[in-house]
Amino acid sequence: MGRIRLLAETVASQVAAGEVVERPASVVKELIENSIDAGARKIDVMIRRGGISLVRVIDDGCGMDRDDALLSLERHATSKIRTATDLQAVATLGFRGEALPSIASVSRFRLSTREVRAMAGTEIIVNGGKLDVVRDAGEAPGTQVEVRSLFYNLPARRKFLRSENTESRNIEHQVHLQAIGHPQVGFSFLRDDRVLFQLPAAAALSDRIRDLLGVELSQRLVEVADKPSPKIRISGFIGQVGLSRQTRTQQLVFVNGRAIESSLITAAIREGYHTALMKGQYPVTFLFLELDPASVDVNVHPAKREVRFRDPTGVREVIVRCVQQTLEGGRAAWQEKFRAPVSLPAAAGKAAPDLRLRPEVPASHEIHRELPHLGTVAGGVDPGRATVGQAFRPPATRIDPAGEAPALQQRAAAATQQQFQIIGVLNKLYVLMENADGLVLVDQHAAHERILFEELRRRMEEQGVPTQKLLLPQTFDVPPRDADWIERNLSILQRMGIGIESFGPGTFKIDSLPSFLDVSDPSQFMRKVIDDLKSASNSASAMRLGEEIIAKSVCRHAVKANDPLRYPEVEKLIRDLLDCDLPYCCPHGRPTMIQISLAELEKKFGRKV
Ligand SMILES: Nc1ncnc2c1ncn2[C@@H]1O[C@H](COP(=O)(O)OP(=O)(O)OP(=O)(O)O)[C@@H](O)[C@H]1O
Ligand SMILES: [Mg+2]
Repeated sequence: MGRIRLLAETVASQVAAGEVVERPASVVKELIENSIDAGARKIDVMIRRGGISLVRVIDDGCGMDRDDALLSLERHATSKIRTATDLQAVATLGFRGEALPSIASVSRFRLSTREVRAMAGTEIIVNGGKLDVVRDAGEAPGTQVEVRSLFYNLPARRKFLRSENTESRNIEHQVHLQAIGHPQVGFSFLRDDRVLFQLPAAAALSDRIRDLLGVELSQRLVEVADKPSPKIRISGFIGQVGLSRQTRTQQLVFVNGRAIESSLITAAIREGYHTALMKGQYPVTFLFLELDPASVDVNVHPAKREVRFRDPTGVREVIVRCVQQTLEGGRAAWQEKFRAPVSLPAAAGKAAPDLRLRPEVPASHEIHRELPHLGTVAGGVDPGRATVGQAFRPPATRIDPAGEAPALQQRAAAATQQQFQIIGVLNKLYVLMENADGLVLVDQHAAHERILFEELRRRMEEQGVPTQKLLLPQTFDVPPRDADWIERNLSILQRMGIGIESFGPGTFKIDSLPSFLDVSDPSQFMRKVIDDLKSASNSASAMRLGEEIIAKSVCRHAVKANDPLRYPEVEKLIRDLLDCDLPYCCPHGRPTMIQISLAELEKKFGRKV
């Protein structure tokens, strides 16, 4: 007896729906994508009770005539592709003809649609996949879809839904994604009758980001530098160094207008940020990749969330380079702040009020004395700038990031033309400086780490890594998985100055290490390196591995937080820091300097609201 039977169409649709419609947010995604494909300029999204009770999407797109409207609810009915060849270069967001029938099979579904010049529109009602009503409708041109009681006929599925709040948040995220991905389209979003946002069609992505996520965030983004590559265009914004999140929700990536999740791209972005990102933090990105549709396969994930690239390595490289260059480009803007002269108020020239804590010291003495440590000086705040200058700080010195040494005789003339001025050191750790923008605090330890890191990296690039032979070569054993990792990266480790070779199954021998390392137990060091690096880089390059090792060793060499520095040392530290590729964070992604603007101070002191 034959045991195999064809499924009824409704059941087949429900099975397919299982893949397409995971949760209310998937309904919202599919409907918005349909509206965008229909050329909508404005999309209104409304949900109730986490989208379980209602999802409504209204657009002003091309609409459908009655035949098409009926056909749109058939499985595999699509206007977007015709042949298998079309599938190789999909230019629309939809292409399967699955979404509407799937949604309609698991909900109470109403579609109302009208073409622009049509006399009347069409209304169709489907309940649980069963066509109930088809009639004329008189709504505005465009399409409205209402999805009520999602999964009412699939109780098992419904049980898997999260709380209404969580589902609402998922939907909101989905609408955010689409709104960022399509700034030229106006969006409104109503949740339980409350307007969460109303976004006008925006001229530029930056306007959309500002409208949706606020001015504060948009000011901390940098526009990516698009190095024209024949195959991939890259545009958008990424967070400047120091901006990161604890989750990946603001790491948005679009490929040909489609929001996607891609471990390849995530890893590439991370690698681009590299030392500019703290452990466990995620970057903020609004990255747009445009490439020939034929070089991306969009048909690999049931919810179209993932894509496959024909040339993954090429994509990876473009992103890594783009992120790196963008971050380094941000440095110029930062340095600008140190180029504008600090304007000294007229009062500075007047005789100082009698608030001095110490008698004036001639400049020649002053410059070699240890920098004052503001945190330890009793007597508190001195309101007179001139007095602070004389009593607490070394003579005004022009520190030019370009590196020219300040000549003594220039100093007097430069007094009103300084780019920044060191005020002192707080708590033996934070260098306090003034620049045209206000106050700058530099963490001297983090600053020194960054400088050493870049110095060692430069040496590694230019001359290779100087190594030092161990007095006694050491052997050590590792579990098979680690042995495998070492074997694969053996030549890279060797180029990194680690003299390591295989010494039988699961055993390795080390006979030299980079000379800048200060290691007492080489085998323990190696185990640690492997642990750290295994997770950091699955596709390790020699340089990257080298950078990791340096970043890990640099801490030990860097000025300790409490090392008192003399004034010329502080001056040199700051100058070296400003010469770095990424001056504003240490190799572990922590900030090296914080700028507090005069405007912020004025606000804090209630001078300005
Ligand atoms: N909002 C809309 N405005 C105009 N036409 C629409 C709209 N929504 C759907 N359609 C039409 O209905 C067809 C079927 O839509 P459906 O979402 O089921 O499939 P698709 O978008 O072609 O592919 P996918 O399943 O990948 O989304 C579309 O190809 C389109 O022609
Ligand atoms: Mg669709």
